[in-house]
Amino acid sequence: MHNKIKKLTKAIIPVAGLGTRMLPATKAIPKELLPIYDRPIIEHVVQEAITAGITEIIFITRSGKEAIENHFDMNYELEHRLDKKGNQITLDSVKNIIPKGIKISSIRQHNALGLGHAILCAKHLINNEPFAVLLPDVMVVEDIPHPKNFSLSSMKKSWDETGVGQIMVQSIENKDTESYGIVDTNGEYPKPFSSIGIKKLVEKPSPVNSPSNLAVLGRYILPADIMDILENTLEGVGGEIQLTDALDKFLNYGELNAFLSTAKIFDCGNKKGFIGANLMFGMRDPEISDYLKDLFDTFNKNI
Ligand code: G1P
Repeated sequence: MHNKIKKLTKAIIPVAGLGTRMLPATKAIPKELLPIYDRPIIEHVVQEAITAGITEIIFITRSGKEAIENHFDMNYELEHRLDKKGNQITLDSVKNIIPKGIKISSIRQHNALGLGHAILCAKHLINNEPFAVLLPDVMVVEDIPHPKNFSLSSMKKSWDETGVGQIMVQSIENKDTESYGIVDTNGEYPKPFSSIGIKKLVEKPSPVNSPSNLAVLGRYILPADIMDILENTLEGVGGEIQLTDALDKFLNYGELNAFLSTAKIFDCGNKKGFIGANLMFGMRDPEISDYLKDLFDTFNKNI
């Protein structure tokens, strides 16, 4: 790593959303604690950050979502009881969620003013260092589940080598541009698992005004300057302070790259993505996959 490139150790995970797209399931339970396969969504996302080499995780949270912090904390009574029963495998699964040396902290976002505002709430903890952002609605399931092949790990490697911020993208259908931040890469398309320069970013453009069909998909590695820009970013689309707008402003004097992920990406903030991610994990488990295949066969026969 070049001397001048600041080491990336911190990640911000915004968890202050109300989860309205998943009501009534999320009336009393934070959407980030809904399970994908055998653990809450948020645990998958935290593990993804740790696998990429992140050692400090900052949750941006709100009142009513304390259960997220509890999930990563000790539960003495539960651990004591499992220990007494000699239930070692289950005990390990609740005890060792966070490896030693990983710090987790949380900050409250008092006002729901948008993703950009949520990120800005962590400015004092970021302390002028680069940072990753992981949106927990987005589940990134890699084709080959080996840490070396993780998109975020590869994005971190690119940051370490170049000091250029990395934004994960994938192509989407043109009709869906209004749901995403879209990047303009000057008509070029990044090669799979590599990155190219971004010319412009637009938050949720209409299909006719969209500069491309490359959508920002919830994983970012950003230089510290973004915090200063966010402080001066006004409300954008939806009356919210948009991270995308701050990134676009940064391009006036800095560089950002679009990293094309080859992973299967699920939006677990809605039913379709949530069920899709659960099925994908189920199909990867040899003890469950035959059962699922039988189930699909039964459905097919009944249609
Ligand atoms: C946010 C971002 C958007 C991004 C999307 C998916 O939008 O503002 O740029 O494309 O996440 O990662 P939201 O889905 O919160 O409206």
